[in-house]
Amino acid sequence: MGGLYRLAWPLLRLLDAETAHRLSIEVLRTGLLRTPATDPPRLACRLWGLDFANPIGIAAGYDKDAEVPDALLGLGFGYAEVGSVTPRPQAGNPRPRLFRLIEDQAVINRMGFNNQGLERLAERLEARQHRGIVGVNLGANRDSEDRIADYVSGLKRLQDVADYLVVNVSSPNTPGLRDLQAEEVLAELLDRLLAARTTAVPLLLKLSPDLTEGEPEAIAEVVLARPVDGLIISNTTLARDGLVSRQRGQQGGLSGAPLWASSTALLTHFHRLCGGRLPLIGVGGVASGRQAYAKIRAGASLVQLYTALVYQGPGLVGRIKRELAALLEADGFATLSEAVGVDAGPAGS
Ligand SMILES: Cc1cc2nc3c(=O)[nH]c(=O)nc-3n(C[C@H](O)[C@H](O)[C@H](O)COP(=O)(O)O)c2cc1C
Repeated sequence: MGGLYRLAWPLLRLLDAETAHRLSIEVLRTGLLRTPATDPPRLACRLWGLDFANPIGIAAGYDKDAEVPDALLGLGFGYAEVGSVTPRPQAGNPRPRLFRLIEDQAVINRMGFNNQGLERLAERLEARQHRGIVGVNLGANRDSEDRIADYVSGLKRLQDVADYLVVNVSSPNTPGLRDLQAEEVLAELLDRLLAARTTAVPLLLKLSPDLTEGEPEAIAEVVLARPVDGLIISNTTLARDGLVSRQRGQQGGLSGAPLWASSTALLTHFHRLCGGRLPLIGVGGVASGRQAYAKIRAGASLVQLYTALVYQGPGLVGRIKRELAALLEADGFATLSEAVGVDAGPAGS
């Protein structure tokens, strides 16, 4: 599969990034891209009562409308996160709004939560024939008067349908959204969501890598005081350090290789703050098995990626899993969970 993608890449590059993305969804929709591999038992893990065959998931934003979750699982991902979805459909920002930074192995996007809305997504998930873990990432409409109510609507509609739910308060492309990470508002948001939860659906919070001093500590305190089930670290960044590509000045969230260091540092920090009491999903710049392994050693129980798929194609998933299994074996870890957080140092440090 990797060889085919290398052949197709020069052509894909000629397309505008959003057109190429659409094309990839249509290709997946045909169901022709499947990797019928069984995963090494060492990669299996159990979290929130769910059995993951491997810890590598596709991050939110690729399949915003849950058009192809089963095709993504068929590529070898251990789970798929769809969304972000908002209660009402919305068009997002004007195009162009997605930019490749090839020399930096990065992407800048300012999509602005373009999606077909909660109802369409819920119906698609309800119509699924297959099993396989699918989480849904919840957003808020840009023009919403009560953004917290938007997340509550998402939770109510999807708590019986999704394997887990994510509260995304960290997209940089909806003005003011990241303010929901502030201590008091976050407490209110989580309390209203937890009060509306009537099923056992795990509820996770997705954070920005651009938190400032003291914010991680405040967030950890709010989250640990409540039955929140996990954190996803992290979303895209507004930072622009060290970029060389022509499109580096575009507005939006930066993902891919330049996000690796800051998102991994924040992951380590949260692993220490939470003392291993809360499962963390590590995301940001993962492009190899070694990097997936580093996220796990930094404190991630699960890993996600998106941008590396743009540059390496679907063969990446199998490569990462093979490399990860070999690294675990070489270091004497019989199971993945033994390796979680071994590099993060003691809790509270
Ligand atoms: C085009 C694009 C759209 C995205 N849309 C969303 C989204 O709707 N919701 C969300 O929580 N994250 C979204 N993300 C962020 C990713 O889920 C992920 O957190 C980020 O890209 C870092 O991972 P990566 O470096 O492997 O891409 C998006 C990322 C990209 C590149």
